[in-house]
Amino acid sequence: MVSEHAAQVLVASNRGPVSYTQGEDGSLTSKRGGGGLVSGLSAVDDKLWVCAALSDGDREAVRQGVAEEGVRMLDIDADLHADAYNGIANSVLWFVHHMLYQTPLEPAFDAEFRRQWAAYEAYNRAFAEALAEEAGEGAAVLVQDYHLALVPGMLRELRADLRIGHFSHTPWAPVDYFRLLPDDIGEQLLRGILGADRAAFLTRRWADAFIGCCTEILGGTGRTRIGVHGLGADADFLRRRSHEADVDERMAALREEVGPDRRTIVRVDRMELSKNIVRGLLAYRALLEEHPEWRERVAHIAFAYPSRQDLAVYQEYTAAVRTLAQEINAQYGTPDWTPVILHVKDDFARSLAAYRLADVALVNPIRDGMNLVAKEVPVVSDDGCVLVLSREAGAYEELGDASIVVNPYDVSATAEALHQALSMPHDERADRTKALAAAATALPPQQWFLDQLEALREG
Ligand code: G6P
Repeated sequence: MVSEHAAQVLVASNRGPVSYTQGEDGSLTSKRGGGGLVSGLSAVDDKLWVCAALSDGDREAVRQGVAEEGVRMLDIDADLHADAYNGIANSVLWFVHHMLYQTPLEPAFDAEFRRQWAAYEAYNRAFAEALAEEAGEGAAVLVQDYHLALVPGMLRELRADLRIGHFSHTPWAPVDYFRLLPDDIGEQLLRGILGADRAAFLTRRWADAFIGCCTEILGGTGRTRIGVHGLGADADFLRRRSHEADVDERMAALREEVGPDRRTIVRVDRMELSKNIVRGLLAYRALLEEHPEWRERVAHIAFAYPSRQDLAVYQEYTAAVRTLAQEINAQYGTPDWTPVILHVKDDFARSLAAYRLADVALVNPIRDGMNLVAKEVPVVSDDGCVLVLSREAGAYEELGDASIVVNPYDVSATAEALHQALSMPHDERADRTKALAAAATALPPQQWFLDQLEALREG
């Protein structure tokens, strides 16, 4: 049954724009998230965001019926959600698209995988049913990411009248790697996305990889159109936010921590395997070893937002990052110089403070759909900043020319790139920062979203 208050624009994603925590007295506190979709969607009226309840607080909010207007949180059974999200989405699909498996050992698709796959299907079905219920006649539905790859196909069967789009925020695996998946599962994923009228990606490279998989495995992309929309940084928001009082306070504290007259190499990531934080630290250690003139004259600020800590491999990675940072500090540190300043905490204001201070930004992912940090730093930088950028980040297509580009596996070359970046004359650095900021803001989030909507409705 179609609901009375049927929406004309619907977005579906695992993580929604708001989350709740329940205090000891039972009261609920809400926290709004950021990101391209949140600002993108602010440009349209008559909309609904369908997302999953992710925490106990979210589930309680659903039970009490306090969810925000324009948001419908689905209270999916917690165990089922864990199998779909941790088991399939983050341990299998994320690994495939980011090519993170260490293939002599993993993956091994067994009965446990099949059980989790059934949960992934049920979780996708719950979204498809909710969307079918909420969407107005002929509405546009924009389904997000690898968590919901089966939704377009399922929704098409329930509601043939809808315009359905799918957007991938990740890379797409090349066909030889995608074929690690069991054949029937790979086909199901491709057919799920091809249930959309339009499937879109952050770069041409990921779109071509998807087309390659469809061509090799299914013989083509059928009637689905393929699009590319390279999300840019939200310049207005960033410039305003990065000059608020809390950011200034954190800058003062950070300057103190770095010490006087030192250069800074900054990185900000989720605590995420694909971000390549360990090799970044190895490169920094190699820099101190090969170019001792930088000792005591530079600090590496590495901030990470805790992420996916339900997965053992993420916990192990976090421990590896901490251990290596401590080793570097023990090996090179002096009474008034801490070579690596590592903080694992959710603090956006402090990240902006680091962006403003950065002399060098290190963005060296193994693979990344886009990487918005690479686009945000040049926009808010106080005094210009050199970007050391992995050629495997989606942002490379737009920012590669004005960056120092690295192969993310090549630790020695990354160390040399850091040396080159630190040594760059001030004028060249200023010119490059200008070029980076222009390229980074070419497609602001609202336009990015409206372009997708228009292209979907045109078809
Ligand atoms: C990537 C994905 C998003 C996801 C985000 C944070 O950017 O493309 O879909 O929301 O990571 O990960 P999390 O698992 O915490 O939602």
